[in-house]
Amino acid sequence: MLDLDAEVLHEYHRELIGWVGQESADRPQGRPAADRPRVVDLGAGSGTGSLALARELPGAEVTAVDVDPDMLAHLRARADAAGLGDRIRTVEADLDAAWPPLGPADVVWAASSMHHMADPGRALASALRVLRPGGLLVVAELESFPRFLTGTADEGLEDRAHAELARRRHEAGLHMRADWAGLIAGAGFSAVTERRFEISLRPPLSPAAARYAEVALLRMRHGLEERLAPTDLAALEKIAAGMGGRSDLTVRTTRTVWLARA
Ligand SMILES: C[S@@+](CC[C@H](N)C(=O)[O-])C[C@H]1O[C@@H](n2cnc3c(N)ncnc32)[C@H](O)[C@@H]1O
Repeated sequence: MLDLDAEVLHEYHRELIGWVGQESADRPQGRPAADRPRVVDLGAGSGTGSLALARELPGAEVTAVDVDPDMLAHLRARADAAGLGDRIRTVEADLDAAWPPLGPADVVWAASSMHHMADPGRALASALRVLRPGGLLVVAELESFPRFLTGTADEGLEDRAHAELARRRHEAGLHMRADWAGLIAGAGFSAVTERRFEISLRPPLSPAAARYAEVALLRMRHGLEERLAPTDLAALEKIAAGMGGRSDLTVRTTRTVWLARA
């Protein structure tokens, strides 16, 4: 799912990485001129950010942190296959507990991971301590999962599923719609900048986009096992199975990104 996200939303990812590359071009205070830029990717997942940042920032050394060893194994395989294995190290750690030593870093990147933290304010304060003065924090968050069926006869079902999923995430304590600018400033960062990316991909979509829709709808269906009517669950499964043959699919999502300085 995360790899498909990177592939299907590649224009967004490219624009974001380019922006971060520009913003981190100046060497922060305290980094010796001979040192390579150091990046820490918090909740790195399958490595979309780690790999892109290693490519974008010349010579950068990336530390990819995640609680899930399977994610890190996947990330390591991708980094090695891309010839970036010597510049990306993986660290298995639960960022809700005491952090291992990760700094000093020039960039801390957290994409779709801050909302998983038990206490995002505390995690952001820890990120501040990892950064050198003047270093760059990047937090990317999504308001909800992408939508694929807008404007089709199945739109109502997708709406019901999203509403139920939002309730489930809220009950699970995920901080999907937190006041990120406020939390970032409250943790002690300055120069907080916000940018919203509206993503809308229209037909004809690539086979990867159809696969992304299929995987996302199936995940949604499994996450809502006890929470949607059996007819809705069966309909979701049928729609997911038929993605490849449809010509009316769209991909709609928004991502919001905050940059800030330590
Ligand atoms: C939605 S994924 C995002 C992955 C990646 N940053 C991306 O943009 O594709 C969230 C990641 O955060 C990790 N995560 C969640 N809670 C965590 C914690 N307490 N400590 C470390 N990693 C965590 C998950 O294992 C998962 O890989």
